[in-house]
Amino acid sequence: MNKSALLIITGSIAAYKSLDVIRRLRERDVRVTCVLTKGGAEFVTPLSLASLSGNPVYSDLFSLKDETEMGHIRLSRENDVIAVIPASADMIAKMVAGRADDLASTTLLATDKPVLIAPAMNSKMWEHPATRRNLAQLRKDGIHIIEPDAGALACGEIGQGRLAEVDTIVAAIIHQLEGDKPLAGLTALVTSGPTYEAIDPVRFIGNKSSGKQGHALAEALAQAGASVTLVTGPTSEGLPKEADIIQVTTAEEMLEACKAALPKDIVICCAAVSDWRVKTPFAQKLKKRANESPPAIELVANPDILRTISTLKTKRPKLVVGFAAETQTVQKNAEAKRISKGCDWIIANDVSGGQVFGSENTSAVFIAASGSEQWKNISKKELAQKLMQKIMDYFPAKVVKPKWKQS
Ligand code: CTP
Repeated sequence: MNKSALLIITGSIAAYKSLDVIRRLRERDVRVTCVLTKGGAEFVTPLSLASLSGNPVYSDLFSLKDETEMGHIRLSRENDVIAVIPASADMIAKMVAGRADDLASTTLLATDKPVLIAPAMNSKMWEHPATRRNLAQLRKDGIHIIEPDAGALACGEIGQGRLAEVDTIVAAIIHQLEGDKPLAGLTALVTSGPTYEAIDPVRFIGNKSSGKQGHALAEALAQAGASVTLVTGPTSEGLPKEADIIQVTTAEEMLEACKAALPKDIVICCAAVSDWRVKTPFAQKLKKRANESPPAIELVANPDILRTISTLKTKRPKLVVGFAAETQTVQKNAEAKRISKGCDWIIANDVSGGQVFGSENTSAVFIAASGSEQWKNISKKELAQKLMQKIMDYFPAKVVKPKWKQS
């Protein structure tokens, strides 16, 4: 993406999360430049910001070096978006008043570009009438506010004021940069590929999944503007460029990676997860010995990732999509699977004869509560596009606006 963002980091314990925001934006090919306030510098160092952004960090309005190198007016105009992350109560008040007594506030006053702020503060400060008034004024001024989350705060209290999730912040910035892409502002998680469950140091239980379908889905979601995390099992397929990739081996690792990546708006479980694992993998390679019967291997059930995500009490994604690999009575089995797993949609593949695994093409039945559709003899990329269309149709009705745009 040939776009650039200016990040202003102000004084809050949540400032360390701006480092992750920078990393994630860079992964999406966004150029990032940072302005660090005096308060911000109490929590993160210019060196960390410069190392991650790959650019000089600016902090002093009256620095001869900074002014000759870049200048606060250029800094405020040459980027496509300005994001204040985290935005302290003090910086919010300064923005309302139009103060310009440091580089950050001057840049915000001088800019003609969209401005997003992600506030972070103690819940009493967040609820204070002064902050309420200030935020109402900033909204009137056209500033986009990425609402803080509720939960345990750094000060030990519980309430609203915790910096929004990094994913939400990155999605909001990307949404601003990408404009009208249909899924911009939404976050998505895709599982893909097989899992390998160790028997001993050299052998494992695996399956024929290539990861092609999951990768095609991650790519299609990213192209449609969603912020995508791909959790993939071992695969030799090339990895999609625009997704945040987490590589795992076992079903348990896949579940943990998925849980850590939540919350998401959309989850698509495409991985061929091994239903069982070896209860206690052998520490040494199993040797075959003459006249001895083959070793007995005790299996235990793996966690069901799709069911776990579909039935979450909190953080349940707005849309959960599963796949069903069936070899007989495909549609009937998949309809039952959709209900038993608790997902919203399921895409059933007939895998009898092994013609789907590793192939570029597939045949599938799309199943929702409202009915089903046959998708016959299409490529895995076409299937991904058909599903994107369904997702685009689904979201305007279900989601009013991305969280940061609601205010
Ligand atoms: N799935 C999962 N975790 C598991 C097993 C399956 O997340 N431990 C997901 C798959 O990613 C897929 C769906 O559940 O989206 C159905 O997978 P499938 O292999 O067709 O069904 P199973 O649940 O394994 O049931 P069965 O093997 O009995 O058909």
